[in-house]
Amino acid sequence: MEYSLRDFRAEDFEALWSIDQRCFVPGIAYSRRELAAYIRRRGSFTVVARSAAVNGNQPGRGAGDASGIVGFIVAEASRRGVGHIISVDILPENRRSGLGSTLLATAEDRLRAADCHAVTLETAVDNTSALAFYKRHQYSVTKIIPRYYLNGVDAFVLEKDLLAQPERR
Ligand SMILES: CC(C)(COP(=O)(O)OP(=O)(O)OC[C@H]1O[C@@H](n2cnc3c(N)ncnc32)[C@H](O)[C@@H]1OP(=O)(O)O)[C@@H](O)C(=O)NCCC(=O)NCCS
Repeated sequence: MEYSLRDFRAEDFEALWSIDQRCFVPGIAYSRRELAAYIRRRGSFTVVARSAAVNGNQPGRGAGDASGIVGFIVAEASRRGVGHIISVDILPENRRSGLGSTLLATAEDRLRAADCHAVTLETAVDNTSALAFYKRHQYSVTKIIPRYYLNGVDAFVLEKDLLAQPERR
């Protein structure tokens, strides 16, 4: 499957919110209001991935809904030079094809360009896929935040040095 990346547009919002609902359980998935606030936050950027299989209003298999959006990443750069990955969401049928890695690398490049030397994120301690994914991309656990999520699950805080030797892509 081939994908094209572009910046978020207002008309993408419902597609992104429904992808987030499919990616996370209640208590971790964002409400519309939360997701909209993260996307609008100062210093934040959102990159969406569309399936190249989409054809007008008749998306092919694995091409998401009519928008063709199958994944996205929301991240932000702070003035302290530390970036934050807010969410990476890939539809289940589009996973393990390298799309999450492509979106993560794109966000990390933008954070470096915004003078960030490190990036952090939070993920649920029981999200084994995400933990394997971030470990694969040189993120390390720095601390645990008890009952971080509304459903009472703890979060790991992960961090990556963005100025370390670049990984092979
Ligand atoms: C985590 C997530 C973003 C990964 O996206 P993806 O497109 O499947 O990731 P990639 O295909 O780029 O995977 C790269 C590597 O990460 C690791 N990885 C990814 N998913 C994995 C899984 N379920 N189990 C074990 N390792 C995994 C593997 O090393 C993989 O390489 P490989 O496929 O060659 O073995 C995706 O599973 C997802 O959207 N999950 C739901 C939302 C979520 O938890 N987001 C992260 C928290 S913010």
